[in-house]
Amino acid sequence: MNNFDFQNPTKIIFGKDEIAKISNEIPKDAKVLLLYGGGSIKKNGIYEQVSAALADFEVLEFGGIPANPEYEVLMKALEIIKTENITFLLAVGGGSVIDGTKFLSAAALFEGDEPWEILTKNIRIFKGMPFGTVLTLPATGSEMNSGAVISRSETKEKFAMGGPGLFPQFSILDPQVIKSIPKRQIANGLADAFTHVLEQYMTYSVDAKLQDRFAESILQTLVEIAPTMLNDAFDYKAASNFMWSCTMALNGLIQKGVPSDWTIHAIGHELTALFGIDHARTLAIIADSHYTVNFEDKKEKLAQYAERVWNITEGTLEEKAKAGIEKTTAFFQSLGINTKLSDYTENYKGTAQEIKKRFTERGWKGIGEKGKVTPTMVAKIVEMSY
Ligand code: NZQ
Ligand code: ZN
Repeated sequence: MNNFDFQNPTKIIFGKDEIAKISNEIPKDAKVLLLYGGGSIKKNGIYEQVSAALADFEVLEFGGIPANPEYEVLMKALEIIKTENITFLLAVGGGSVIDGTKFLSAAALFEGDEPWEILTKNIRIFKGMPFGTVLTLPATGSEMNSGAVISRSETKEKFAMGGPGLFPQFSILDPQVIKSIPKRQIANGLADAFTHVLEQYMTYSVDAKLQDRFAESILQTLVEIAPTMLNDAFDYKAASNFMWSCTMALNGLIQKGVPSDWTIHAIGHELTALFGIDHARTLAIIADSHYTVNFEDKKEKLAQYAERVWNITEGTLEEKAKAGIEKTTAFFQSLGINTKLSDYTENYKGTAQEIKKRFTERGWKGIGEKGKVTPTMVAKIVEMSY
């Protein structure tokens, strides 16, 4: 096992009807900016619950943060934070609203001229404006991690940011919010969380038995509950397991002491930036070809995954590993997610070269757990995903 530090300061308040507890978590004299997305919270009762909990606070609101939170929109919220002397941010939404709020937390205290530099210069954030979240869509784990991904449509770019100053102070996880989520977004959440685990697992063994089994248990849980989550009837037990699995998939725990490989996400973000494809679907497009191209480096872990998660006991190590890749793609498809780029756009030709160019310009000469995935290999992976 590799050396590691682990600190996660986010307080999780989990369960039925817990949104009311927001009022215990925000300083009484805070001036709060409530941030939300395109309006789902006004149709499903979450807004009313949050408003009731904030009745004794001074609160302003900013709605309209789009999926793949957009820099230009967030800059309008930043203006309000500054002119109104906001002291606390409350994100009520999915990964996009929470990530947008993390950007604002950083931008509110940023001393440079152009907050976009936080993303382009990859400035690590050690202190941000305090914020909490009410999670409305399990998927990203953003509610219990310190990372964010921000998009800029003007330049068709999508960049990650983060730092120890960007953990939420608290996150409220009430599985009942899942009732109103469209099935397409449930499928996205399952695929995103599943891939988060894969990216922290599908590397090479460092004999970290507990981390491997943490990862496998999250994958098994997601596979087990997926059919129930895609049923029309709401099932609180499955929803609770879904929500907690998504959080545990990316709150830092399972990646401690083990190598990780965020190649699928790195390429996926480009597909969202170029074509607007949902984040989770970009991952389902790339996973199969990434594991196929990097088969030699990953085959031991792929075979272990095939055995432990998919119960594949027959065959050689290579055959099991290959079956592991096939099961992964079949799982995404069972969620109703298409796994080829050409399923999403007719303009896919040239994408491989465009992404290769972008990675080269950024100096991303070798990514993956061993730094071996070059821009040329990235182009091959993308081309195989057409
Ligand atoms: O905007 P509203 O109207 O709220 O509707 C949203 C949105 O249209 C809707 N929704 C959310 N909760 C709902 C609901 N609809 C009905 N009922 C509810 N309870 O769902 C749609 C998608 O929401 P969004 O927040 O965009 O989805 P998700 O949570 O999948 O977040 C995706 C973003 O997170 C980033 C992605 O790149 C993408 O920008 N990621 C963030 C990560 C992180 N911070 O750690 C890691 C991930 O890998 C990912 O990159
Ligand atoms: Zn993701």
